[in-house]
Amino acid sequence: MIPWEFLESAAVPGGGGELGLYRRGGEFSIRVASRELMNSRLHASEEALAELACARVAARPRPRVLIGGLGMGYTTAATLHRLGADGQVVVAELVPVVVEWNRGPLADLAGRPLQDARVTVREVDIARILQAEHRAYDAILLDVDNGPAGLTRKGNDWLYARAGLEAAYAALRRAGVLGVWSASPDRAFAKRPCRVNFEVNEVCVRARGPGRGGRHTIWLAVRSS
Ligand SMILES: C[S@@+](CC[C@H](N)C(=O)[O-])C[C@H]1O[C@@H](n2cnc3c(N)ncnc32)[C@H](O)[C@@H]1O
Repeated sequence: MIPWEFLESAAVPGGGGELGLYRRGGEFSIRVASRELMNSRLHASEEALAELACARVAARPRPRVLIGGLGMGYTTAATLHRLGADGQVVVAELVPVVVEWNRGPLADLAGRPLQDARVTVREVDIARILQAEHRAYDAILLDVDNGPAGLTRKGNDWLYARAGLEAAYAALRRAGVLGVWSASPDRAFAKRPCRVNFEVNEVCVRARGPGRGGRHTIWLAVRSS
């Protein structure tokens, strides 16, 4: 077994913790403290997040999709794959070194999505965008923790609470979709988007593609008006 090699780490803004990049042969891992946030061998459910949400909005004129965060770029690449030439993708990434990694050692994992002219990367907390922009996006894809609880940093709890969901609702255009990725079901969270007028659909997706790998959860919350 090849041992994991530590490559680099950086502080998580506003968090107090560190995000680290590790490699084992051709496999990469992004970890926060000792918890794995993303692994390059398992990305089918991160791609499904994009596919499920974009299936509802890709046919609209000039669809705009907000993604948080970048990770290894799989959700971003899958979104680009689903959108046409007039689509726009804004990627919010809290930790600037993750963007550097995606232009360096991680670039080829998802096929260099940051080189696509439809993509704008903003090195910012996605919460700042949700608070500032109204009726701006057809879809918002949230995969910043391992589920609806602040793992990268405690402050991310806001995103999954009523205030964050209301901000996401306001940032979406009519019938826009908020997609939230999670490593496991969460009955308490599943009820919450309905309370701010979203219509919610919970989907079970497999980590390695249809019928393969662990079961992950994606909530698709559709803005009702
Ligand atoms: C699980 S990874 C995302 C994996 C990604 N879906 C992919 O396909 O590779 C989580 C990412 O979200 C970023 N992140 C965490 N909190 C954030 C926030 N509040 N705003 C923007 N990005 C954030 C992390 O730095 C990390 O890059």
